[in-house]
Amino acid sequence: MKSITVNLKNKSYPIYIASEGWEELPQAIEGKIRGKKVLVVCDENILPLYYNSVKSVLISMGYQTDVAVIPPGEASKSFDRAQRLYTKALETGLDRSSSIIALGGGVTGDLAGFIAATYMRGIGLIQIPTSLLAQVDSSIGGKVAINHPLAKNIIGAFYQPNMVFIDPHTLISLPLREFATGMAELIKHAFIADQDFISWLEDKMEALISRDIQTLSDALYRSCQIKVSVVEQDEKETGLRMILNFGHTIGHAIEAATGYSKYTHGEAVAMGMVYESKIAMNMGLISQDYIDRLVCILKKANLPTQLDTPEWDPIIDRMAYDKKNMDQRIVLVLPTRYGKVEVFKDLNPDQIKRLLK
Ligand code: GLY
Repeated sequence: MKSITVNLKNKSYPIYIASEGWEELPQAIEGKIRGKKVLVVCDENILPLYYNSVKSVLISMGYQTDVAVIPPGEASKSFDRAQRLYTKALETGLDRSSSIIALGGGVTGDLAGFIAATYMRGIGLIQIPTSLLAQVDSSIGGKVAINHPLAKNIIGAFYQPNMVFIDPHTLISLPLREFATGMAELIKHAFIADQDFISWLEDKMEALISRDIQTLSDALYRSCQIKVSVVEQDEKETGLRMILNFGHTIGHAIEAATGYSKYTHGEAVAMGMVYESKIAMNMGLISQDYIDRLVCILKKANLPTQLDTPEWDPIIDRMAYDKKNMDQRIVLVLPTRYGKVEVFKDLNPDQIKRLLK
Protein backbone atom coordinates (compact mmCIF):
# COMPACT_ATOMS: atom_id res chain seq x y z
CA MET A 1 0.00 0.00 0.00
CA LYS A 2 1.42 3.39 -1.02
CA SER A 3 0.71 6.52 0.94
CA ILE A 4 0.95 10.28 0.55
CA THR A 5 0.61 12.62 3.53
CA VAL A 6 -1.37 15.83 3.16
CA ASN A 7 0.59 18.17 5.43
CA LEU A 8 -1.82 20.71 6.94
CA LYS A 9 -0.43 21.14 10.47
CA ASN A 10 -2.97 19.70 12.96
CA LYS A 11 -5.30 18.72 10.09
CA SER A 12 -2.75 16.51 8.30
CA TYR A 13 -3.95 13.15 6.99
CA PRO A 14 -2.83 10.23 4.84
CA ILE A 15 -4.05 9.17 1.41
CA TYR A 16 -3.57 5.42 0.94
CA ILE A 17 -3.47 3.78 -2.48
CA ALA A 18 -4.15 0.08 -1.88
CA SER A 19 -2.45 -2.65 -3.85
CA GLU A 20 -4.35 -5.59 -2.29
CA GLY A 21 -7.85 -4.06 -2.15
CA TRP A 22 -10.10 -4.04 0.91
CA GLU A 23 -7.70 -6.34 2.83
CA GLU A 24 -5.62 -3.25 3.51
CA LEU A 25 -8.53 -1.18 4.85
CA PRO A 26 -8.09 -2.24 8.54
CA GLN A 27 -4.46 -1.10 8.49
CA ALA A 28 -5.51 2.20 6.90
CA ILE A 29 -8.40 2.80 9.35
CA GLU A 30 -6.38 1.95 12.47
CA GLY A 31 -6.28 5.04 14.70
CA LYS A 32 -8.35 7.24 12.33
CA ILE A 33 -11.78 6.77 14.01
CA ARG A 34 -12.15 8.03 17.60
CA GLY A 35 -15.55 6.78 18.85
CA LYS A 36 -17.42 3.54 18.25
CA LYS A 37 -20.18 4.66 15.87
CA VAL A 38 -19.73 4.92 12.14
CA LEU A 39 -22.29 5.90 9.51
CA VAL A 40 -21.42 4.86 5.97
CA VAL A 41 -23.00 6.98 3.23
CA CYS A 42 -23.19 5.42 -0.23
CA ASP A 43 -25.51 5.46 -3.22
CA GLU A 44 -27.80 2.71 -4.50
CA ASN A 45 -25.25 1.58 -7.11
CA ILE A 46 -22.31 1.38 -4.71
CA LEU A 47 -24.28 -0.37 -1.93
CA PRO A 48 -24.32 -3.85 -3.54
CA LEU A 49 -20.73 -3.52 -4.83
CA TYR A 50 -18.70 -2.47 -1.80
CA TYR A 51 -20.77 -1.86 1.34
CA ASN A 52 -20.50 -5.41 2.67
CA SER A 53 -16.70 -5.41 2.34
CA VAL A 54 -16.42 -2.11 4.22
CA LYS A 55 -19.00 -3.17 6.83
CA SER A 56 -17.15 -6.47 7.55
CA VAL A 57 -13.92 -4.56 8.13
CA LEU A 58 -15.64 -2.07 10.47
CA ILE A 59 -17.43 -4.79 12.44
CA SER A 60 -14.25 -6.87 12.77
CA MET A 61 -12.60 -3.76 14.22
CA GLY A 62 -15.40 -3.38 16.80
CA TYR A 63 -17.30 -0.43 15.28
CA GLN A 64 -21.11 -0.11 15.39
CA THR A 65 -21.98 0.43 11.75
CA ASP A 66 -25.03 1.76 9.96
CA VAL A 67 -25.60 2.83 6.37
CA ALA A 68 -27.47 5.71 4.72
CA VAL A 69 -28.28 5.06 1.09
CA ILE A 70 -28.81 7.98 -1.30
CA PRO A 71 -30.03 8.03 -4.91
CA PRO A 72 -27.14 8.29 -7.39
CA GLY A 73 -26.63 11.61 -9.18
CA GLU A 74 -26.06 15.30 -8.62
CA ALA A 75 -29.67 15.84 -7.45
CA SER A 76 -28.69 14.24 -4.12
CA LYS A 77 -26.52 17.24 -3.22
CA SER A 78 -29.67 19.04 -2.02
CA PHE A 79 -30.99 20.65 1.18
CA ASP A 80 -33.65 17.97 1.32
CA ARG A 81 -31.15 15.10 1.14
CA ALA A 82 -28.89 16.81 3.68
CA GLN A 83 -31.86 17.14 6.08
CA ARG A 84 -32.61 13.43 5.72
CA LEU A 85 -28.99 12.58 6.47
CA TYR A 86 -28.99 14.77 9.62
CA THR A 87 -32.11 12.87 10.71
CA LYS A 88 -30.37 9.55 10.05
CA ALA A 89 -27.30 10.73 11.98
CA LEU A 90 -29.50 11.65 14.97
CA GLU A 91 -31.48 8.40 14.80
CA THR A 92 -28.25 6.41 14.61
CA GLY A 93 -27.04 8.25 17.72
CA LEU A 94 -23.92 9.75 16.16
CA ASP A 95 -22.10 11.97 18.65
CA ARG A 96 -19.05 14.21 18.44
CA SER A 97 -16.71 11.24 18.55
CA SER A 98 -18.49 9.46 15.68
CA SER A 99 -17.40 9.31 12.06
CA ILE A 100 -19.01 9.36 8.65
CA ILE A 101 -17.52 7.30 5.84
CA ALA A 102 -18.18 8.60 2.32
CA LEU A 103 -18.10 5.48 0.13
CA GLY A 104 -18.53 6.28 -3.56
CA GLY A 105 -18.04 8.98 -6.16
CA GLY A 106 -17.88 12.75 -6.05
CA VAL A 107 -21.54 13.36 -5.18
CA THR A 108 -21.36 11.05 -2.16
CA GLY A 109 -18.05 12.53 -1.01
CA ASP A 110 -19.28 16.12 -1.29
CA LEU A 111 -22.62 15.45 0.42
CA ALA A 112 -21.38 13.10 3.18
CA GLY A 113 -18.43 15.44 3.75
CA PHE A 114 -20.83 18.38 4.11
CA ILE A 115 -22.86 16.47 6.71
CA ALA A 116 -19.66 15.51 8.61
CA ALA A 117 -18.51 19.16 8.53
CA THR A 118 -21.77 20.54 9.92
CA TYR A 119 -23.38 17.85 12.13
CA MET A 120 -22.60 18.86 15.74
CA ARG A 121 -20.17 21.43 14.24
CA GLY A 122 -18.02 18.71 12.77
CA ILE A 123 -17.42 15.00 13.29
CA GLY A 124 -14.91 12.51 11.86
CA LEU A 125 -14.78 11.98 8.10
CA ILE A 126 -13.20 9.18 6.08
CA GLN A 127 -13.26 9.31 2.30
CA ILE A 128 -13.31 6.02 0.37
CA PRO A 129 -13.64 7.25 -3.22
CA THR A 130 -14.62 4.63 -5.80
CA SER A 131 -14.72 6.70 -9.02
CA LEU A 132 -11.67 8.04 -10.82
CA LEU A 133 -12.95 11.61 -10.50
CA ALA A 134 -13.27 11.25 -6.72
CA GLN A 135 -9.93 9.44 -6.39
CA VAL A 136 -7.86 12.06 -8.22
CA ASP A 137 -9.81 15.14 -7.24
CA SER A 138 -12.89 15.51 -5.07
CA SER A 139 -11.94 13.28 -2.11
CA ILE A 140 -8.68 15.19 -1.60
CA GLY A 141 -8.34 18.68 -0.22
CA GLY A 142 -11.46 19.05 1.91
CA LYS A 143 -13.93 20.75 -0.42
CA VAL A 144 -17.41 19.60 0.66
CA ALA A 145 -20.67 21.08 -0.56
CA ILE A 146 -24.29 20.83 -1.54
CA ASN A 147 -25.97 22.71 -4.38
CA HIS A 148 -28.42 25.62 -4.30
CA PRO A 149 -31.09 25.54 -7.02
CA LEU A 150 -29.34 28.59 -8.56
CA ALA A 151 -25.72 27.44 -8.31
CA LYS A 152 -23.62 24.31 -7.95
CA ASN A 153 -21.43 23.71 -4.84
CA ILE A 154 -22.38 27.11 -3.46
CA ILE A 155 -23.07 25.99 0.14
CA GLY A 156 -20.09 24.24 1.60
CA ALA A 157 -16.91 24.24 3.60
CA PHE A 158 -13.26 23.31 3.56
CA TYR A 159 -13.34 20.27 5.84
CA GLN A 160 -10.42 17.87 5.68
CA PRO A 161 -11.02 14.13 6.12
CA ASN A 162 -9.07 12.02 8.63
CA MET A 163 -8.00 9.65 5.89
CA VAL A 164 -8.55 8.85 2.21
CA PHE A 165 -8.47 5.20 1.09
CA ILE A 166 -8.22 4.58 -2.64
CA ASP A 167 -8.59 1.08 -4.07
CA PRO A 168 -7.70 1.25 -7.80
CA HIS A 169 -9.54 -2.08 -8.33
CA THR A 170 -12.83 -0.16 -8.04
CA LEU A 171 -11.97 1.45 -11.41
CA ILE A 172 -12.15 -1.84 -13.30
CA SER A 173 -15.95 -1.90 -13.38
CA LEU A 174 -16.38 1.84 -13.87
CA PRO A 175 -18.43 2.63 -17.03
CA LEU A 176 -16.31 4.11 -19.85
CA ARG A 177 -17.90 7.56 -19.70
CA GLU A 178 -17.41 7.81 -15.93
CA PHE A 179 -13.81 6.68 -16.29
CA ALA A 180 -13.22 9.32 -18.98
CA THR A 181 -14.64 12.05 -16.75
CA GLY A 182 -11.98 11.27 -14.13
CA MET A 183 -9.31 11.16 -16.82
CA ALA A 184 -10.05 14.82 -17.59
CA GLU A 185 -8.97 15.84 -14.05
CA LEU A 186 -5.95 13.56 -14.18
CA ILE A 187 -4.85 15.05 -17.52
CA LYS A 188 -5.50 18.52 -16.06
CA HIS A 189 -3.05 17.80 -13.22
CA ALA A 190 -0.34 16.97 -15.77
CA PHE A 191 -0.96 20.12 -17.83
CA ILE A 192 -0.98 22.45 -14.82
CA ALA A 193 2.06 21.09 -13.04
CA ASP A 194 4.20 18.42 -14.65
CA GLN A 195 5.43 18.30 -18.23
CA ASP A 196 6.99 14.82 -17.69
CA PHE A 197 3.63 13.52 -16.50
CA ILE A 198 2.09 14.71 -19.82
CA SER A 199 4.57 12.54 -21.75
CA TRP A 200 4.03 9.64 -19.33
CA LEU A 201 0.26 9.82 -19.86
CA GLU A 202 0.74 9.90 -23.64
CA ASP A 203 2.84 6.71 -23.39
CA LYS A 204 0.54 4.91 -20.98
CA MET A 205 -2.89 5.98 -22.26
CA GLU A 206 -3.70 2.54 -23.73
CA ALA A 207 -2.77 0.75 -20.50
CA LEU A 208 -4.84 3.25 -18.53
CA ILE A 209 -7.91 2.87 -20.76
CA SER A 210 -7.62 -0.93 -20.51
CA ARG A 211 -7.52 -0.45 -16.68
CA ASP A 212 -4.12 -2.03 -16.04
CA ILE A 213 -3.96 -1.89 -12.24
CA GLN A 214 -0.27 -1.06 -11.86
CA THR A 215 -0.49 1.76 -14.43
CA LEU A 216 -3.65 3.10 -12.79
CA SER A 217 -1.99 2.99 -9.40
CA ASP A 218 1.08 4.89 -10.69
CA ALA A 219 -1.14 7.50 -12.37
CA LEU A 220 -3.24 7.94 -9.22
CA TYR A 221 -0.11 8.36 -7.13
CA ARG A 222 1.37 11.13 -9.31
CA SER A 223 -1.97 12.86 -9.79
CA CYS A 224 -2.68 12.85 -6.03
CA GLN A 225 0.84 14.15 -5.33
CA ILE A 226 0.20 17.14 -7.61
CA LYS A 227 -3.15 17.96 -6.02
CA VAL A 228 -1.74 17.51 -2.50
CA SER A 229 1.17 19.82 -3.15
CA VAL A 230 -1.22 22.59 -4.31
CA VAL A 231 -3.62 22.07 -1.37
CA GLU A 232 -0.76 22.13 1.13
CA GLN A 233 0.32 25.55 -0.13
CA ASP A 234 -3.18 27.08 -0.26
CA GLU A 235 -5.80 25.07 1.60
CA LYS A 236 -8.60 27.69 1.39
CA GLU A 237 -8.07 28.72 -2.26
CA THR A 238 -6.93 32.27 -1.62
CA GLY A 239 -4.44 32.09 -4.49
CA LEU A 240 -2.45 29.14 -5.83
CA ARG A 241 -5.25 26.56 -5.44
CA MET A 242 -7.13 28.37 -8.21
CA ILE A 243 -4.76 26.68 -10.68
CA LEU A 244 -6.74 23.47 -10.09
CA ASN A 245 -9.54 25.25 -11.93
CA PHE A 246 -7.85 25.07 -15.35
CA GLY A 247 -10.68 24.26 -17.77
CA HIS A 248 -13.28 24.85 -15.08
CA THR A 249 -14.38 28.47 -15.72
CA ILE A 250 -15.60 27.56 -19.19
CA GLY A 251 -16.31 23.95 -18.13
CA HIS A 252 -18.70 24.95 -15.33
CA ALA A 253 -20.38 27.46 -17.65
CA ILE A 254 -20.86 24.74 -20.30
CA GLU A 255 -22.37 22.43 -17.67
CA ALA A 256 -24.72 25.16 -16.43
CA ALA A 257 -25.72 26.38 -19.91
CA THR A 258 -26.57 22.82 -20.97
CA GLY A 259 -28.62 22.05 -17.85
CA TYR A 260 -26.06 19.76 -16.17
CA SER A 261 -27.36 16.90 -18.28
CA LYS A 262 -25.71 16.91 -21.70
CA TYR A 263 -22.08 16.57 -20.58
CA THR A 264 -20.41 14.99 -17.56
CA HIS A 265 -18.24 17.28 -15.43
CA GLY A 266 -15.04 15.88 -16.95
CA GLU A 267 -16.35 16.23 -20.50
CA ALA A 268 -17.16 19.88 -19.84
CA VAL A 269 -13.73 20.42 -18.22
CA ALA A 270 -12.01 18.75 -21.20
CA MET A 271 -13.68 21.20 -23.60
CA GLY A 272 -13.05 24.00 -21.10
CA MET A 273 -9.31 23.24 -21.15
CA VAL A 274 -9.25 23.36 -24.95
CA TYR A 275 -11.22 26.64 -25.14
CA GLU A 276 -9.18 28.24 -22.34
CA SER A 277 -6.02 27.17 -24.21
CA LYS A 278 -7.42 28.87 -27.34
CA ILE A 279 -7.83 32.07 -25.32
CA ALA A 280 -4.23 31.67 -24.11
CA MET A 281 -3.02 31.15 -27.68
CA ASN A 282 -4.90 34.23 -28.91
CA MET A 283 -3.25 36.19 -26.09
CA GLY A 284 0.14 34.99 -27.33
CA LEU A 285 0.84 32.86 -24.24
CA ILE A 286 1.17 29.47 -25.97
CA SER A 287 1.33 28.17 -29.53
CA GLN A 288 -0.90 25.88 -31.61
CA ASP A 289 1.20 22.78 -30.82
CA TYR A 290 0.09 23.02 -27.15
CA ILE A 291 -3.56 22.82 -28.24
CA ASP A 292 -2.85 19.99 -30.72
CA ARG A 293 -1.16 17.94 -28.01
CA LEU A 294 -3.93 18.63 -25.48
CA VAL A 295 -6.65 17.73 -27.99
CA CYS A 296 -4.83 14.53 -28.96
CA ILE A 297 -4.48 13.25 -25.38
CA LEU A 298 -8.10 14.16 -24.53
CA LYS A 299 -9.37 12.32 -27.60
CA LYS A 300 -7.36 9.23 -26.67
CA ALA A 301 -9.03 9.40 -23.26
CA ASN A 302 -12.49 9.38 -24.97
CA LEU A 303 -13.22 13.00 -24.09
CA PRO A 304 -14.86 15.65 -26.29
CA THR A 305 -12.69 18.59 -27.32
CA GLN A 306 -15.28 20.95 -28.79
CA LEU A 307 -18.96 21.74 -28.44
CA ASP A 308 -21.29 20.36 -31.12
CA THR A 309 -22.82 23.81 -31.55
CA PRO A 310 -20.81 26.54 -29.82
CA GLU A 311 -23.24 29.22 -28.67
CA TRP A 312 -21.11 31.54 -26.60
CA ASP A 313 -23.62 34.06 -25.24
CA PRO A 314 -25.33 31.74 -22.70
CA ILE A 315 -21.98 30.21 -21.76
CA ILE A 316 -20.33 33.60 -21.18
CA ASP A 317 -23.41 34.75 -19.20
CA ARG A 318 -22.97 31.73 -16.93
CA MET A 319 -19.28 32.53 -16.43
CA ALA A 320 -20.40 35.62 -14.51
CA TYR A 321 -21.60 33.36 -11.64
CA ASP A 322 -18.23 31.63 -11.16
CA LYS A 323 -17.10 31.49 -7.51
CA LYS A 324 -13.59 32.62 -8.48
CA ASN A 325 -14.77 35.94 -9.96
CA MET A 326 -13.87 39.18 -8.22
CA ASP A 327 -15.33 42.67 -8.82
CA GLN A 328 -17.26 41.43 -11.87
CA ARG A 329 -14.05 40.39 -13.59
CA ILE A 330 -13.96 36.83 -14.82
CA VAL A 331 -11.07 34.81 -13.41
CA LEU A 332 -9.47 32.41 -15.87
CA VAL A 333 -6.63 29.95 -15.37
CA LEU A 334 -4.60 29.97 -18.56
CA PRO A 335 -1.63 27.88 -19.69
CA THR A 336 1.66 29.67 -20.22
CA ARG A 337 3.72 26.59 -21.13
CA TYR A 338 3.57 22.79 -20.74
CA GLY A 339 3.12 22.00 -17.03
CA LYS A 340 2.46 25.61 -16.06
CA VAL A 341 -0.66 27.78 -15.75
CA GLU A 342 -1.30 31.23 -14.33
CA VAL A 343 -4.38 32.96 -12.92
CA PHE A 344 -5.69 35.92 -14.99
CA LYS A 345 -8.12 38.20 -13.16
CA ASP A 346 -8.69 41.07 -15.53
CA LEU A 347 -10.71 39.71 -18.43
CA ASN A 348 -14.20 40.93 -19.20
CA PRO A 349 -16.90 39.00 -21.10
CA ASP A 350 -16.37 40.93 -24.38
CA GLN A 351 -12.63 40.20 -24.41
CA ILE A 352 -13.31 36.52 -23.71
CA LYS A 353 -15.80 36.32 -26.56
CA ARG A 354 -13.28 37.93 -28.93
CA LEU A 355 -10.45 35.66 -27.78
CA LEU A 356 -12.56 32.55 -28.31
CA LYS A 357 -12.98 33.27 -32.00
N1 GLY B 1 -11.37 20.53 -7.48
C1 GLY B 1 -10.52 21.65 -7.27
C2 GLY B 1 -10.08 21.81 -5.86
O1 GLY B 1 -10.20 20.90 -5.06
O2 GLY B 1 -9.60 22.86 -5.51
